[in-house]
Amino acid sequence: MSKKVALVAGVRPEIIKESPLIREFEKRGTDYFVIYTGQHYNYEMEKIFFEQLNLPLPKYNLSIRSSAPFLQGEHTGRMLIEIEKILLNEMPDIVLTLGDTNSTLAGALTARKLSTTAAFTNIRIMLGHIEAGLRSYDKTMPEEVNRILADHLSDYLFAPTHRAAGNMIGEGIHHGKITVTGNTIVDALFEASKASRDNEILDKLNLEPQGYFLATFHRQENADVKEKFANVLEAFGRLYKKYGKPVIYPIHPRSKKLMEKFGLQVPEGVRILGPAGFMEFLKLEENASAILTDSGGVQEESCILNVPCVTLRENTERPETIDVGANILAGTDPDKIVECTETMLNKKRSWENPFGDGKSGKRIADIILGGQA
Ligand code: UD1
Ligand code: UDP
Repeated sequence: MSKKVALVAGVRPEIIKESPLIREFEKRGTDYFVIYTGQHYNYEMEKIFFEQLNLPLPKYNLSIRSSAPFLQGEHTGRMLIEIEKILLNEMPDIVLTLGDTNSTLAGALTARKLSTTAAFTNIRIMLGHIEAGLRSYDKTMPEEVNRILADHLSDYLFAPTHRAAGNMIGEGIHHGKITVTGNTIVDALFEASKASRDNEILDKLNLEPQGYFLATFHRQENADVKEKFANVLEAFGRLYKKYGKPVIYPIHPRSKKLMEKFGLQVPEGVRILGPAGFMEFLKLEENASAILTDSGGVQEESCILNVPCVTLRENTERPETIDVGANILAGTDPDKIVECTETMLNKKRSWENPFGDGKSGKRIADIILGGQA
């Protein structure tokens, strides 16, 4: 009997990383639907990705926005209530969540809780976690809490690397639940590279290939702390002075709000843009001298695209990028950021991509659908 699949997403990287699965389900005629929580909701944080990736709009859009970034429980709780109603109505066989956001945890927890109520509801949901096993070993981060819980609740764990699989085995998760599939971001990048990709965004911004740095900075542990945010901006200004290359910073709405709240000044040579579309952002990544970021997905992409990365954090749940020589941890101290950038600029761009062969979506679909065509 064919299986019915529910995919849960809520933020921009989840739309991007689930796109290979959606394509696979469309190709196979799978009975599936998407629940989009609405955690990200501005056009340039949500709809633009469905448009650029040619994805059908989600069957459900819950429009659940965080009322304040520190109200994690309220945000996740409202999602639980609405996702539960949908799952009871749709009765899928399997729920898939990806990554480490509040939307990930809400999808996982709702599915797992419902599967304990089979005696009343007759519902038997299996749960799968994509991008499983990542660990920063820093439980002050909401992402670490979300991903640990999602992993320990799930029946199927799709680890991007052997290292991620090993993390879960080390926590006592049974190896029989785990498959190393690679990361679906590689599939998404391969797919995007097929689309026509001119240099329009570079021309529009008057940038030359290798003539700028690209930056993103939005994580709670960073952007919410005035001193760290100010330090990182200072480092960007110093990079401009040292190399004569502007720092292009497409800013996340969270960081924009905080920058205004803190009254931070933008140094000379730092160009703040609105969030970029995926195709434009890839172009900016590919042509940057180096990327400075605290994003998880951007650390992966810079590694895959062979662009050196300086991570503006004290830890990373993507240590594979450091192992292969594509990334370095700088934290938020300006001296360290400038020093680490110099180190990375001197690197030969010849590392291996540790995140797989671009067939992760197919592997995950094969496993959950049991080889159904
Ligand atoms: C979330 C994830 C984070 C991930 C990021 C991807 C959690 C706990 N955090 O962080 O792991 O790296 O998404 O980008 O799930 N906002 C807007 N417009 C939007 C989206 C957000 O104005 O389209 C504002 C929200 O109103 C809120 C702030 O940005 O004030 C933070 O949004 P939230 O969804 O809480 O977390 P992110 O920082 O986006
Ligand atoms: N991204 C984008 N436009 C931007 C910044 C990022 O399209 O202005 C994409 C980027 O290519 C990557 C993903 O968003 O695929 C990363 O998301 P983000 O940094 O918001 O979240 P994280 O990966 O840290 O959870």
